[in-house]
Amino acid sequence: MTKMKQCETWIWILLMTIEFTACQDFDIFVFSEQWPPATCIKGRQEKKTCKMPLVYNYWTIHGLWPCSSSGDNPKYCPGPSFNFSQISNLTEELISYWPDIYDKRSIQGLWNHEWTCHGTCAQTIPATKNERRYFKKNLELIKKFNITSILSNHNVSPSEGNPYSPTIILDILKKDLGHAPLLICIEDEVRF
Ligand SMILES: *[C@@H]1O[C@H](CO)[C@@H](O)[C@H](O)[C@H]1NC(C)=O
Ligand SMILES: *[C@@H]1O[C@H](CO)[C@@H](O)[C@H](O)[C@H]1NC(C)=O
Ligand SMILES: *[C@@H]1O[C@H](CO)[C@@H](O)[C@H](O)[C@H]1NC(C)=O
Repeated sequence: MTKMKQCETWIWILLMTIEFTACQDFDIFVFSEQWPPATCIKGRQEKKTCKMPLVYNYWTIHGLWPCSSSGDNPKYCPGPSFNFSQISNLTEELISYWPDIYDKRSIQGLWNHEWTCHGTCAQTIPATKNERRYFKKNLELIKKFNITSILSNHNVSPSEGNPYSPTIILDILKKDLGHAPLLICIEDEVRF
């Protein structure tokens, strides 16, 4: 019997450093991607259920978070409330790449949360200066840092019956991205 580990990767990337010089509140962005089966396991531990069957067999966006290297990360900044009309013509892409995989939340629940908690704090720089740009930037980043394709280019296609060790995944990402991402693993309590 092996215990299976599902991984979700949180990638730390330094972006647009020049623009940050004017900004006191944050100096890096954390772009976080998740492996949906792992997110479901995490959810189960928090008594959340996933939409089933889980159709996402690829890495999806969790969020883009302004962070401060001092550790004091800005959250819930003043700014316009989430307005779905601003991003309605991105819906198709957002559903594919930034789905809320938990059940019983409106389709816009995750987007609303990510904007309100993190996006509002990113408005001080041009690339993410409003809701629409913030969501577009996320879609750009998931294409640029496509973990699904990076891994499959190295013949790594994890699935329930076919786990890989976090070390293998981390090594591939490190080589490909030129930086070591932070990889957080969720341990499944279910034994196979
Ligand atoms: C939401 O955005 C739409 C489209 O830009 C705009 O017409 C509407 O006034 C906005 N709603 C609010 C509450 O700001
Ligand atoms: C989508 O909507 C925005 C305004 O909310 C507009 O600027 C943009 O041109 C639209 N894009 C398409 C492809 O219709
Ligand atoms: C990532 O790559 C996979 C496989 O190469 C592709 O199917 C998928 O559409 C890509 N995702 C994005 C966000 O471009």
